[in-house]
Amino acid sequence: MKHKILVVGSGAREHAIIRALNRSVHKKEIYCIASNMNPGIVNSCENFTMGDINDPTFVTNYARHVSATIAIIGPENPLAAGVADVLWSIGIKTVGPTRDLAQIESSKAFTRNLLKEYHIPGGPEYKTFSSMRGVEDFLNTLEDNYVVKYDGLMGGKGVKVAGEHLHSHTEALAYCKELLDSDAQFVIEEKFIGEEFSLMSFCDGDNLKHMPAVQDHKRAYDGDTGPNTGGMGTYSDSNHSLPFLTKQDIDDAKTINQATAKAIKNKFDLSYRGILYGGFMATANGVKLIEYNARFGDPEAMNVLSILESDFVDICYAIVNGNLNDVPVKFSTKATVCKYAVPNGYPDNPVKGQEIDVSKISNHNGLYYASVNIQKEKLVESGSRTIAYVGIADSIFDAETIAENEIISIEGPLFHRKDIGKKELIQKRIDHMKSLR
Ligand code: AMP
Ligand code: GLY
Repeated sequence: MKHKILVVGSGAREHAIIRALNRSVHKKEIYCIASNMNPGIVNSCENFTMGDINDPTFVTNYARHVSATIAIIGPENPLAAGVADVLWSIGIKTVGPTRDLAQIESSKAFTRNLLKEYHIPGGPEYKTFSSMRGVEDFLNTLEDNYVVKYDGLMGGKGVKVAGEHLHSHTEALAYCKELLDSDAQFVIEEKFIGEEFSLMSFCDGDNLKHMPAVQDHKRAYDGDTGPNTGGMGTYSDSNHSLPFLTKQDIDDAKTINQATAKAIKNKFDLSYRGILYGGFMATANGVKLIEYNARFGDPEAMNVLSILESDFVDICYAIVNGNLNDVPVKFSTKATVCKYAVPNGYPDNPVKGQEIDVSKISNHNGLYYASVNIQKEKLVESGSRTIAYVGIADSIFDAETIAENEIISIEGPLFHRKDIGKKELIQKRIDHMKSLR
């Protein structure tokens, strides 16, 4: 049988998904619904269509048209819009949870309440609000350690952290009022102090297979300065842990993911079939849960999928068929460093539509296209994270050298973080955790 695999989305994450699918031994055709002419994807698909990836009718019509046998949803917005629901309803098994279950990402309050209801460890002290009643009292309880979170999808930009984005209770109250003025609910929670990491798990509803831990870098500039971004780069280590984590930290994160998948199933009597991405913070008091995402991370997908040794097509079918325990899920014991080149001015005022040139890249296997379009046979960046490069080696430092040498060779009005994966930055993380523990 030839598999007809539909991928929804067209960033670097989806490029990585498609590249991993293409390594499979199975006979297959890959189809993609895209929001930009990603050159890496266009060239590796049977068919490619541009359209609104968040429109369930558009996606299902195309899925029917190409007789898709399975679908994989990359980004969070189609999940929140119920694209998986309608694909399942027309008989297309889908990697990516249905809308109710995707609330694990789309609603901060839902996730906090779920963890509390099922006594899952790692949650902060928190309260949910839909008016200003009680806000000031709760801020007074948390003193200087609070975070205010808009209760919905905002690409990470709805979260404001005390000491970073909010410098007094007056500022916090003003932000809460701003959210209420736009009809939004919000969560206020205890601020955790530590080092962040991501632990993603493949999940078929009952069984989880965990991926290597990854650390992302949200700030735009070197030294963790500048505005927050979608993620400027990531690294993972050859032992699938991170230099600042203990074995206990990794075990605890896995346990929390497992307990969460079980809780979702219990709550909805439905299986969570997709990627469960736990965003964690290692703290002096153990591992804490910052957030869940209902999909692969971007850039985290590039780190883990590029060292996935097992057959990704088999894994996807096992996720949707509920037999994940029957297939091997193995990653090579290599370190990875992924760096993003982004447009000058990103994220606040990015240049747009400028030509880029990748001809000096020496090994295209590590290159993933993101916000890139093809115009008059030329590559142009389209204003968001542009190109990611993944270096793979025995050590993080060697992987960093590879990624840095390649990413710096891309020509165009772009910048990247030079420090991600470098000794100084990693030592800083280790020292920070040492001082806290
Ligand atoms: P989120 O969208 O929930 O991941 O939040 C975005 C970022 O805000 C996270 O990556 C953290 O850096 C920070 N953050 C969120 N919640 C907390 C928390 N409870 N304590 C400390 N930092 C947090
Ligand atoms: N790298 C963070 C995210 O994908 O949300």
